[in-house]
Amino acid sequence: MQKNIYITTPAYYVNDRPHIGHAYTTLACDTLARFWRLNGVCVYLISGTDEHGQKVEQASLKEGVSPQAFTDHMSSYFINLLQEMDIICDDFIRTTEDRHKKAVSALWKCLQKRGYIYLGAYSGWYSVRDEAFYREKDLVDGKAPTGAPVEWVDEPSYFFKLSAFQEPLLAFYKNNPHFIFPQSRYNEVIRFVEGGLQDLSISRSTFSWGIPVPNDEKHIIYVWLDALTNYLSVLGFPDPSASLFQSFWKGAIHVVGKDILRFHAVYWPAFLMAAGLPLPKQIVAHGWWTNEGEKISKSLGNTIDPLELIQHSSRDSLRYFLLREISFGSDGNFSRQSFFYRHNNDLSNSYGNLAQRVLSFLQKNCEGKIPLAGELTPEDENLLDNFKGIISTLEHHMKNYAFHKYAETIWEIIIKANRYIDEQKPWDLKKKDLERMNTVLYVLLEVIRKIAILTQPLVPDASCKILDQLSVSKRTFKDLEIPLTPGTTLPAPFGVFPRLSE
Ligand code: MSP
Repeated sequence: MQKNIYITTPAYYVNDRPHIGHAYTTLACDTLARFWRLNGVCVYLISGTDEHGQKVEQASLKEGVSPQAFTDHMSSYFINLLQEMDIICDDFIRTTEDRHKKAVSALWKCLQKRGYIYLGAYSGWYSVRDEAFYREKDLVDGKAPTGAPVEWVDEPSYFFKLSAFQEPLLAFYKNNPHFIFPQSRYNEVIRFVEGGLQDLSISRSTFSWGIPVPNDEKHIIYVWLDALTNYLSVLGFPDPSASLFQSFWKGAIHVVGKDILRFHAVYWPAFLMAAGLPLPKQIVAHGWWTNEGEKISKSLGNTIDPLELIQHSSRDSLRYFLLREISFGSDGNFSRQSFFYRHNNDLSNSYGNLAQRVLSFLQKNCEGKIPLAGELTPEDENLLDNFKGIISTLEHHMKNYAFHKYAETIWEIIIKANRYIDEQKPWDLKKKDLERMNTVLYVLLEVIRKIAILTQPLVPDASCKILDQLSVSKRTFKDLEIPLTPGTTLPAPFGVFPRLSE
């Protein structure tokens, strides 16, 4: 059985409103959290906002408001997105909160005390958009490898002795082959570290929006050292006896986009090693979404607003599409056509239709009462056998972040169940063999109950509506074994996935 799990989204920059990329990471985290909770594991899920640094300061100046007022306003969009998407977060942390500032200062002091910080001067390239330092040889046509503009920075700076961690990091990766997911990213990080690590500038002194360096307020702490610490501060660090820290830190899974893997898989473990703290369990990197084949960017004006999509469809549709369309780790393309196709084909025609057909037949022909099953035929057994061992299959998919395979596994059963109805023809049985009709209906209701329990992490709203329509209150994976009670009168059914027209 899994131990406690701590799942984190990145702390999102508040320089702009949330878009589909933010929604994606968060939905994946929430899906994992729901799955493990239903499976009896203790989960702590957090999200938050990254509010310091030059990028946010510049955005606030552009708006003509103070950084604090700006971040107060912008972080509310991210909190609102969580509510609109019904993400069940245990905590939400803003890096401008006192509890966080306290944690960052404590981590800094610890690194300094242990001899890993020294004062020097940084001369080199910096990208405000990426909040990252670049070497001359990293630049491509005068820009960061990400395409972001860079500027020359020449200022006094504190450094972290990152170079001391090349060997310890490589040894750690070797001993923990699952530390970075997927494997291709694990290999990429190892190649990067093998290429050599330079000491890292960890303070800035030419602007002021950040957490001051303890005992040297002319400097503010580099926004990445600040932001990464959110994963600790939310658990009560630096209090060594904080119970959340004790219970959850070692089970930490940081879910991030591929663009910020290096910060999480190289810098963060090095900071933690230097501080003498345990490392997280795993860093999981997902790919990037394009919009109708184009890179999503503000300047192209093609960002996708998740709330607008939800308004035109449902939060289940968005969630299902993003998790079903691609394998986690690969890049994906958002196209309106495939979005509507997934909804209408998989959700309305397959899943919704299965529930609707059976429940309305029951309402019309059995006064809405769950019938008593007679003896099962091999066809009935065959259909029900699809659930044998399914939890370990689904667990395997979730451990591999294969949300698409999780969905495929269940949708195969949905397709089989629809075929079973066509073959068993309960409408004919009604005229010829009522006992057999009752058995077929009972088998179908049981199949729908099990499917609805299993689809809760993927399409929580619809699963909940279907379970309500079946009057099922026991909904954890353990409860899969508790069959429906014949004779129960079910409420009037209604469709859970109305078809969408473009
Ligand atoms: N503030 C940092 C994270 C600090 S964590 C200690 C940051 N924030 S961000 O708001 O720019 O990005 C947050 C996440 O959104 C990243 O994981 C990034 O990969 C993801 N995405 C941004 N655009 C994306 C797509 N087009 N597609 C998928 N995810 C993308 O980085």
